[in-house]
Amino acid sequence: MEEEEGKTKVKNKALEEDLAIFLEDVSTIYEGERRPAIKGVSISIRRKELVYIVGPNASGKTTLLETINGLLPLYKGRVFVLGLNVRTYGNEVRREIGYVPQDFMFDPGEPYKALDVVLMGRYGKIGILRRPKEEDLRKAMETLRLMGIDDQANKPVGKLSGGQQQKVMIARALAKEPKILLMDEPFSNLDPDSRERIPELIGRLHEERGLTTVIVTHDVHRISRLCRRVIVMGGGRIVADEGPENALTLLDTSRPHILGGVWHHDVA
Ligand SMILES: Nc1ncnc2c1ncn2[C@@H]1O[C@H](COP(=O)(O)OP(=O)(O)OP(=O)(O)O)[C@@H](O)[C@H]1O
Ligand SMILES: [Mg+2]
Repeated sequence: MEEEEGKTKVKNKALEEDLAIFLEDVSTIYEGERRPAIKGVSISIRRKELVYIVGPNASGKTTLLETINGLLPLYKGRVFVLGLNVRTYGNEVRREIGYVPQDFMFDPGEPYKALDVVLMGRYGKIGILRRPKEEDLRKAMETLRLMGIDDQANKPVGKLSGGQQQKVMIARALAKEPKILLMDEPFSNLDPDSRERIPELIGRLHEERGLTTVIVTHDVHRISRLCRRVIVMGGGRIVADEGPENALTLLDTSRPHILGGVWHHDVA
């Protein structure tokens, strides 16, 4: 397999065509820590897949997403996104990813309006120094409308409720029109109605646009019926990677024992 490591731009054709995300024996260690937060993780996610990631607190789910997004230094291994090595092409990779971080809250005094924050999702397309065009505004308003908060567009984002802020972050990721959506507990603050409606909407967008979608959740019993793959993390490792036959039965309430064993893994 041809690969790149240096500065020259050499895309890996095989990885680009087939795989949206490719990790090989990846370990990530936080600065000042002795033990890696994820260890020996290998995953291939094809383009257009919808994958859920589950696992207990501190099992490494957020670390995994941030490693894919090139936000954390790798300690070991290789990460390719859309055929690009994130070590070398972090900015290019992030341009193609709509990321919804976990529990992101704006400062109450944040002066940006909700619409401004969603427009930031389009800066890769607008270019930082240009003014948003009609199409950017239309796209930003459309995603706010999809989230059901277009009436909040001109409100300072720090004054919105926690659930509304979460919807702004989802809108921002979608307005980017990314190739890959990485979402970290994106529905955790939503009310029951939104918790039904918005995941369904994301599933529909995934299908219509062929959007590669990776969703971290604790809400295992609400995993989309469109999901064909569930990855279970425990102690910084992948402890199960289930395909269509088992993905949904894995989460079946009548079979809790299947997940039971992973809740107490430690990194060796
Ligand atoms: N900035 C950091 N510095 C040092 N250690 C960190 C940092 N962020 C996370 N960790 C550690 O890395 C491990 C994995 O954390 P991570 O946030 O990836 O877990 P998670 O699976 O997303 O958990 P949760 O379900 O609570 O969101 C934990 O042991 C955590 O303490
Ligand atoms: Mg997390």
